[in-house]
Amino acid sequence: MKVSIIFGTRPEAIKLAPLILAMRRDAGFTCRVCVTGQHRQMLDQVLEVFGITPDADLNLMKPGQTLAGLTSSAIAAIDHYLAADKPELVLVQGDTTTVLCSALAAFYHRIPVGHVEAGLRTGDLEHPWPEEANRVLTTRLAAFHFAPTDSSRDNLLREKVDPATIHVTGNTVIDALFLALERARATRPVIPGLPARVLDNGHPVVLITGHRRENFGDGFDSICRAVATLAQRFPAVEFVYPVHLNPNVREPVGRILGEAAHRNVHLIEPLPYLPFIALMDRSRVILTDSGGVQEEAPSLGKPVLVMRDTTERPEAVTAGTVRLVGTDFKRIVDETSRLLSDETAHTTMARSHNPYGDGKAVERIMAVLRTWRPS
Ligand code: UD1
Ligand code: UDP
Repeated sequence: MKVSIIFGTRPEAIKLAPLILAMRRDAGFTCRVCVTGQHRQMLDQVLEVFGITPDADLNLMKPGQTLAGLTSSAIAAIDHYLAADKPELVLVQGDTTTVLCSALAAFYHRIPVGHVEAGLRTGDLEHPWPEEANRVLTTRLAAFHFAPTDSSRDNLLREKVDPATIHVTGNTVIDALFLALERARATRPVIPGLPARVLDNGHPVVLITGHRRENFGDGFDSICRAVATLAQRFPAVEFVYPVHLNPNVREPVGRILGEAAHRNVHLIEPLPYLPFIALMDRSRVILTDSGGVQEEAPSLGKPVLVMRDTTERPEAVTAGTVRLVGTDFKRIVDETSRLLSDETAHTTMARSHNPYGDGKAVERIMAVLRTWRPS
């Protein structure tokens, strides 16, 4: 079966890498990889870690790109790619602009689409924005829905998706994490841009990431002011923040946290996957608005405070290892302070479990596809 896997950003690359590696080893599949290059540096970091060379690179990223600008150039470029490549199936992952554009372009070519990580929903088109709309629209276009959990399957059933097309597989992020964790733990972590003394001094580490569009402006200002206050309140804690390359993120982070006054705040460049996992593994608390980090952290037994008001990933919240704190200054400061000073509160949240998968999602997706005969 001739499959084209199309993706464009860091999280899609991480979550599709184990599937690409497995399909390329399997004689039953001819697996072609097309990257849109919606992300450039952050995508290339992942391709390098997993040793994946794309068959086609549409190289679309423009600094400060707009959603409409990227959408129009992506649909045109993917259309062109599909016309030449003629796959029997297109696979996409998640909820980015690349996902929606690939699904739409494939639909126009009457090529069936398999959607990996299908059925995540908040039920609110504004949160996350624009990803919730990308999810809903991609579901309407897809022929296969690989839902990571029972609750994502139930979301699809509520939207009247044909049950025969939904397959609960677990999330491929856990397959990726298991592939990478052994390598990350095999050597002493070296975190590019972070002086060795920061991890050698035995101080607790708070890891911060953030990039959600709905948090741009006041939300990011509030997050950064909260980190600055926490850094002053806890001088013996190291706050490590690999800053996303989106200029809307870098501006407030640099303005509020870039001052030399915050000597225990370390702003570094986005990390390659292995050192990032090593840093998660070494952290005491994680503050994030990331989807992937929310899914990986429970496997590592790390408490996560999610700086959003909604989540499409309720499993770890129900299990008690992830808590939603929004972007409210006081809430972030209070909840982080509690986890840093109250051992019982920390232990209650720091339970290692895998609500998002068992590392066998790729196996299940491939088993479904092996039984399918393209018409
Ligand atoms: C995108 C996705 C989001 C996903 C996130 C993962 C959409 C609408 N957004 O958001 O769903 O959660 O990726 O990180 O699809 N940039 C670089 N180099 C890079 C990556 C980004 O310079 O490697 C800068 C560029 O100026 C670029 C900007 O960031 O124009 C925004 O990139 P874009 O992919 O549009 O949005 P993200 O915020 O990264
Ligand atoms: N990640 C990484 N380096 C970093 C920050 C995150 O490799 O500096 C990984 C992280 O482990 C997770 C993924 O990137 O697998 C999450 O990406 P992001 O937060 O950009 O997107 P989201 O998951 O929110 O769509």
